[in-house]
Formats: sequence, C-alpha cells, structure tokens
Amino acid sequence: MRLVSPGSQHTEQLARELAVLLRTGDVITLEAPLGGGKTTFVRGLAAGLGVPEDEVSSPTFVIWQIYEGRLRLHHLDAYRLRSADELEEIGLAEVLGIQDVVVLEWPGVAEALLPQDRLHISLNYGASEDERILELQGRGSWAARLEDWRP
Ligand SMILES: Nc1ncnc2c1ncn2[C@@H]1O[C@H](COP(=O)(O)OP(=O)(O)OP(=O)(O)O)[C@@H](O)[C@H]1O
Ligand SMILES: [Mg+2]
Repeated sequence: MRLVSPGSQHTEQLARELAVLLRTGDVITLEAPLGGGKTTFVRGLAAGLGVPEDEVSSPTFVIWQIYEGRLRLHHLDAYRLRSADELEEIGLAEVLGIQDVVVLEWPGVAEALLPQDRLHISLNYGASEDERILELQGRGSWAARLEDWRP
C-alpha cells in the first residue's frame, strides 16, 4: 500500500489511524532516510494507543523507550547499533517474545531476529519539502489486516 503524506501532521494522523489495528505481539519496522519521518510516525502510533504526545521524542542516546497506552509500546531506534549481537545484548529477542507492541527504527541490523509476521513501512522524501511517500508492506497476518484498513 502506497500513501502520500503532504505534511508531518498528516503522517501522524495516518499512524494514529493505523494504531486501531494494533494488537499484542505486533512488530512494526520503519525504514527511512534521516529526517524521513519515522519518529513522527511513532508519535502518531503512540497517540492512537492513548499515550500523551509529548512522551514521544527522539533523544540522541536513548535507543529504547516504553510508552503505556491501550497496549504497551516499545520504541527502539537501532541507528547506532552495528550488529544483531548488540540488539541481542539490549534484549530485543526477549521483547519480541512478549505480548507488547514493538516498533523499530532502522531494522537493518536486526533482520535475522525479526519475525516474519510484521508490518514494514518505508518512508521516503517526495516532490516537495514536506511530502513523504509511505510504502506499507504487510507480511504474514498483516497482509489481510491492511487490506481491510481504510486510512
Ligand atoms: N510529511 C511529513 N511526514 C513526516 N515528517 C515530516 C513531513 N514533512 C515534514 N516533516 C518533518 O520532517 C522531520 C521528520 O523527523 P523525524 O524525527 O520524524 O524523522 P526520523 O526518520 O525519525 O529521523 P531520524 O532518522 O533522524 O531519527 C520532522 O521535522 C517533521 O516535522
Ligand atoms: Mg527517529
């Protein structure tokens, strides 16, 4: 599914709507260039789960944040991690096994640890400064879930 977002508010709103689909154990991976809108998207997801918006930020050295909403949301940013081993060390495998929602920015190094069943989203710059192109790939159970979703 390909969506065009004309601005950050729109990206947040899309994510807020997507949050309705979330259930325990879900994994979402986000790929985008720097400033592509990954954290903006997570802010919307969190808002959709009932988390106060200002709790979601992107502080430079925090690679794992937890927000409490309708479901507990783990927000991980693997930008500074170099290998799957480092993700194992911080406990990614454990959190993927529990009944929370996990959203991971920069999933590249984690690929081997991630479940097949997941929603993968890539964001890319569009034609204007504030435009982003979102490509949603539903894998496993997410394929059918996305088909029924009308943003
Ligand atoms: N359509 C859009 N969707 C999302 N963000 C947008 C859009 N248009 C402009 N922006 C701006 O782009 C920036 C996106 O920053 P954000 O931190 O969400 O990106 P990121 O992918 O998490 O970056 P990083 O890789 O540095 O963590 C914000 O300043 C946001 O206001
Ligand atoms: Mg970010």
